[in-house]
Amino acid sequence: MKTIVFHPTKENQGSVIETCAQIIREGGLLGIPTETVYGLGADALNETAVRHIFEAKGRPQDNPLIIHVPDATWLVRYCKDVPESAYRLAERFWPGPLTMILPRKQIVPLQTTGGLETVGVRCPNHPLTLAVIAAADVPIAAPSGNTSGRPSPTKASHMLQDMDGKIEGILDGGDCAVGVESTIIDLTVQSPRLLRPGGLPLESLREVLGEVTVDKAVTSKLKEGEKPKAPGMKYRHYAPKAPVTVVTGAPEKSAAYIAAHLAVADGVICFDEFAPLFAGHTVHRLGSAADKLAQAQHVFDALRTFDDTDVPAIYAQCPDDTGLGLAVGNRLKKAAGFHIVDVGYD
Ligand code: TXA
Ligand code: MG
Repeated sequence: MKTIVFHPTKENQGSVIETCAQIIREGGLLGIPTETVYGLGADALNETAVRHIFEAKGRPQDNPLIIHVPDATWLVRYCKDVPESAYRLAERFWPGPLTMILPRKQIVPLQTTGGLETVGVRCPNHPLTLAVIAAADVPIAAPSGNTSGRPSPTKASHMLQDMDGKIEGILDGGDCAVGVESTIIDLTVQSPRLLRPGGLPLESLREVLGEVTVDKAVTSKLKEGEKPKAPGMKYRHYAPKAPVTVVTGAPEKSAAYIAAHLAVADGVICFDEFAPLFAGHTVHRLGSAADKLAQAQHVFDALRTFDDTDVPAIYAQCPDDTGLGLAVGNRLKKAAGFHIVDVGYD
């Protein structure tokens, strides 16, 4: 199959959106830009199309897909017993990097939900994708557009690396503004539960919901046989050949620790300020230590580019857990299989 990359311009945008909507309506697969990461989209209500998503990614069938809608009025089409808190969250944070887990209606196939009676719903903040969903008039099921086990794509070129020849098209909407996937909140339990930290900080959720429980899978490695509430959290995002060590603690201290332990050929993921310390090594910068949005935007690109090198070991500086730091740190720690060294803050 020839994968077409669509580059919308002012002039051709209308026809590009129509062509992309047609791919979705006809059961095809389309790479879609969102503010978080690129998604691998298909008609969420079409079981065959959804099956093709799993095949193209090499994704385990028990790992459910989230569906993308143009606004909160679509919630009742696909979910039952929608709590009032869902509307309050949507009002405040949609379109945006927030996925809500709610009870599914029958119309959403079990193929899409990985056999679960719940479904994840999100309204992405990207005008092109919102236009495609509206034109297709169906919800778009979309996991991140990477091959299973690879870092999520934050550029159209990343998606092409993984999906060229496997899908009908990729809609190039530029680099992703947030860079880490959406925050997932489970609203089907008594106290809302954070299943995956992401582009919307936990602090923002707490402003609206009050108490939010954090699922164990967010902060620690699960034991053999232990099941996370978000099935995808049990898979490693990225299994580099080289072992990754994540170093948490004050940036000056984590940089010093890495400098002291680094072997000649090892690679480093670090904050911009500390890059000069590691001259001569393969270095990928995350952004400055204080700029967590920049770190979110760069974390997957840094992990992905290490695929093309064969460093024997990788050390990564890790931000603290506040704001977007919780999501950035979680992605680094998952890549490291939760191999963490903590050098502390004082
Ligand atoms: O930002 C995002 O969320 C991106 C963009 C494309 O929207 N999508 C994304 O999808 O990250 P994916 O499939 O890569 O990650 C979704 C996660 C998986 O870990 C999956 O197990 C979990 O959400 N999930 C989906 N439906 C669920 C459900 N009903 N209950 C619990 N977890 C669910
Ligand atoms: Mg994913």
